[in-house]
Formats: sequence, C-alpha cells, structure tokens
Amino acid sequence: MSKIDGVMSYYAELLNAELNKAIIADNNDYGILAEAMKYSTIDGGKRIRPILLLEFYKLFGGKSAEAVKFATALEMIHSYSLVHDDLPCMDNDDFRRGKPSCHKAYGENIAVLTGDALLTSAFEYASSVTDISPERVIKAINILASAAGINGMVGGQVLDILSINLDTAEGLKKMYALKTGALLKSAAMIGCVLAGGDEKIEHCQRYADALGLAFQIVDDMLDVIGDESKLGKPVGSDEKNDKLTFVSIFGMEKAKQTVIDLTVDAKNCIDEIGGNGEFLKDFADYLASRTF
Ligand code: IPE
Ligand code: IPE
Ligand code: MG
Ligand code: MG
Ligand code: MG
Repeated sequence: MSKIDGVMSYYAELLNAELNKAIIADNNDYGILAEAMKYSTIDGGKRIRPILLLEFYKLFGGKSAEAVKFATALEMIHSYSLVHDDLPCMDNDDFRRGKPSCHKAYGENIAVLTGDALLTSAFEYASSVTDISPERVIKAINILASAAGINGMVGGQVLDILSINLDTAEGLKKMYALKTGALLKSAAMIGCVLAGGDEKIEHCQRYADALGLAFQIVDDMLDVIGDESKLGKPVGSDEKNDKLTFVSIFGMEKAKQTVIDLTVDAKNCIDEIGGNGEFLKDFADYLASRTF
C-alpha cells in the first residue's frame, strides 16, 4: 500500500466512526431516515474534503481531536449534495459510491429528506465542538454555511443544471468554482481558521481553488474515460444530460494539460505557506492522476 493509500484508509475509518456518532435517531419511528443517512455517508467516498480539512489543521499546528467534527460535518454536507445531485430531477443517476443511489434504495421522498437531514445535522455536529475557541468555531461555521449555500455549492448546481453561461471558459470555471470548488475550499479554510492560521488563509484559498478546478476537470474526464466499477458511479452521465463540460468544450488533451498546470500552482501555494506540507503536495499529485 502506498503512503497516501495508507493515510486515506486511516481517514476512511475515522470518518466512519464519526458518522456513526453524528447520525442518531432519538425515535425509532423515523429510524428509516437515520438508515438512509448512514447508507449515503458511511463506507463510501474518498473523503477528500475531511482529509484536506484535517491536514490543513495539522499544518497550522492544530491539536484538538475535536476538529474531526468539522471534517465530519463537511463530509455530511458533501454527501447530501451527492444524494440530491443524483435525483431524477437533477442528474438522474442510479449508482453512487458503488451501490444504488439513495433514491433508488429508499425512494425519492426519503432521499430528499436524507439530504435535508444531513445538511442540518452537519451544523448540529460541528457546533457541538467544546475545546476550540468559540471565535474560531463561529468563523468556521460561517465559512461552512457560506460554501454550502447560494453563493457556494447550491448556486453552482443552479448554474450547472440551467446551463447558465457555460459556453465560455470563464463561465464554466465560475460554475466549477461554486459547485465543486466551494466545499473543497472551505475544507482548507476551516482547517486553517480552527488552528489559528488566519494570516496564511489566502494561500490556503489559492491552493484549494487550483485543486478544486483540477478536481472537477478530472471528474469530467473520468465521466468519459473512467471505469464504472472503479468510480462507483455511472460514466457518460454528462453526455446523457447534454452537459457542457471542460472536456466537451476544450477536448481531452487540453483538459489533461490544464490539470497538470493547476496541480503545479496548488503545490506552489503549499511551498509559500512553509512548514511540513509534503502530504498536501503529494495529495494534489494523487488527485490529479486518480482513476476513481
Ligand atoms: C463527486 O465528488 C462530486 C464532485 C464534486 C465532482 P467526489 O469525487 O469527492 O465523491 P466521493 O465523495 O469520493 O464519492
Ligand atoms: C456535482 O457535479 C457536484 C455536486 C455539487 C454534487 P457532478 O454532477 O459532475 O458530480 P458527479 O459526477 O455526479 O459525482
Ligand atoms: Mg451534477
Ligand atoms: Mg452528477
Ligand atoms: Mg461528474
């Protein structure tokens, strides 16, 4: 197992344990909801956002074990975005993380409510942190909320599903920066803010901006050339939905080169921060050449 694979499986177990603590139904009458929430979060996904959050926290000297609550909250919000993204009224995809999408397993009504509950419970869990200063926690919650909402992920999903201004590089990048970049950037920013690294926050943002754009371009590439059994979700979803993507507009070669260039930019930001940022640089390379 490579060093990065080892780190990733460590975080995967950590997140599974945390999600089990974060998702609890007080009343068995709506136990189906907790079941669907766990189905959509536990044992699946690469956990990129929690990893970034906790690695930035570490880079800036953060020591509290409770930062993992924010990492868990962020993964819950990301997972909710996937549950809703797969719905028939959105991308209409039947597989996610190697199994039937939430609405296929539980029905559309429960899938909508699963997303609602994951989003809300995420803030409940993040705000239950007790050993990080309230000023830092409030700042982090503000970053999380703003990344998830109208000027973040949800706004980007609107640009995507309504194809607003996607025929120019600028418009397409704006949509990517919101639908995908916003949550990834919030991971870097929250890690930084919780550890008190605010004076370097712009470097964190620039790293995540480059990484986020590269990440979505790779996602678009894999939608064309990926292997469904590795990805755990359908390939060809973008074509099915007549989506304009970086690949459909600029072609595969330009997409590949852009990912390489963005990854160099991201790694330079880590050098500028200083300290022990080796993992975050290796992680950028790892994500650029991922096949899942
Ligand atoms: C998928 O995100 C949706 C995008 C923003 C491209 P991931 O590729 O991080 O999905 P999981 O969490 O590993 O399933
Ligand atoms: C979705 O982008 C980004 C989200 C906010 C969920 P995609 O629609 O390309 O993500 P996948 O390919 O379904 O994972
Ligand atoms: Mg989508
Ligand atoms: Mg989709
Ligand atoms: Mg995609």
